[in-house]
Amino acid sequence: MNTLPAKQLTPKSNRRIYLGVMSGTSLDGIDIVAVSFEPDFKMLSSASYDIPSDIKDLILALCLPGDNEIEKMGHLDVALAQLYAKYCNQLIDDNTNIFSRCDVCAIGLHGQTIRHRPLNDPLHNFSLQIGDANTVAELTGITTIADFRRRDLAAGGQGAPLVPAFHQSLFSHISNDRVIVNIGGMANITLLAKDNTQPLIGFDTGPGNVLLDAWINKCQEKAYDLGGAWAHTGTVNKPLLKQLLTLPYFQQDYPKSTGREQFNLSWLQQQLSEYTGLSDVDIQCTLVELTAITICDQVSRQAFSMAQLFVCGGGAKNSFLMERLDALLPDAAIVTSTKALNLAPDWVEASAFAWLAKQTLAGLNGNCMTVTGAKGERVLGAIYQP
Ligand SMILES: Nc1ncnc2c1ncn2[C@@H]1O[C@H](COP(=O)(O)OP(=O)(O)O)[C@@H](O)[C@H]1O
Ligand SMILES: [Mg+2]
Repeated sequence: MNTLPAKQLTPKSNRRIYLGVMSGTSLDGIDIVAVSFEPDFKMLSSASYDIPSDIKDLILALCLPGDNEIEKMGHLDVALAQLYAKYCNQLIDDNTNIFSRCDVCAIGLHGQTIRHRPLNDPLHNFSLQIGDANTVAELTGITTIADFRRRDLAAGGQGAPLVPAFHQSLFSHISNDRVIVNIGGMANITLLAKDNTQPLIGFDTGPGNVLLDAWINKCQEKAYDLGGAWAHTGTVNKPLLKQLLTLPYFQQDYPKSTGREQFNLSWLQQQLSEYTGLSDVDIQCTLVELTAITICDQVSRQAFSMAQLFVCGGGAKNSFLMERLDALLPDAAIVTSTKALNLAPDWVEASAFAWLAKQTLAGLNGNCMTVTGAKGERVLGAIYQP
């Protein structure tokens, strides 16, 4: 069990440090960064920690309707929080040469999404992230900010994506149009026009890695296709691709966001029911193409096909997927990862939640109404004092 860490009362850094904690749809790990924003953005430390397999199973079980959900959720809410707190404490303890616990002003905690239902009926709009922030504040002794999405939903927004405002603050450029593509379990794009009077646009394009992981896991019991090497040996099946692309979500206008409710293995298996003769590898290759096409189509539709495109999230490490993005956007000025912008792709989303915590603590807005569709900009999340 966690015990309350010893207080470190002497500041070690002259910067105000924020931790960002991100555990996304993919369940590949819990990413934590320690960053500061003033005078400029600086990454002090980062690490990715394991999610034990029993916790992973509990999360997956709660992502779809099932039995006894309240009991299960209550238990997992605290168990996950204990894990988040343990890893935050570990990151701090591993970096005492750089900063001290008392230099950390806040933890920005995304939590684990178990349901995301941004439907158009306001009575059914909800998004649920668990990992009790009371427990995290208690076990770390640090102000913890969580529950970022629901205020935006309450204001009529999708509650997602929330990363575009951070992308804008860090990555926009006065002489280049830029696209930031976050390829996690789902994929979302942020369109940063060089003309900063243009409204910020950002939305989920559809699946990122989630179907790729689900399919290789089913066929080969692997968590993911390293570098996209397996998919690379396959061939795109055009009829299947065409069928997958008929899903209305892909044609829907933004604002829009999606999750495991829509894109999951059983949905994929339904889609495959008439393709019994297809080889497993061709299906994997077709799924890579689906992720790539749905991203690139939207980039082109929004007139950003000549922009610079920077990819973050685990998808940036899938070289085959990166190759396909490059091929589908022949006019793009560059297609590369956010490493080229001095922030490694693994740490962008966790940094965004550290930034959102900073915004909340300062009483500043975190959402962007042109992205989520909310009635207005809002201070997001709730503050849990230590
Ligand atoms: N070396 C790699 N090659 C191919 N895919 C990778 C690699 N590393 C990570 N990924 C993919 O990225 C996913 C994790 O991406 P991440 O951005 O953390 O998503 P999430 O936010 O959903 O957790 C993994 O599940 C895997 O599909
Ligand atoms: Mg992840």
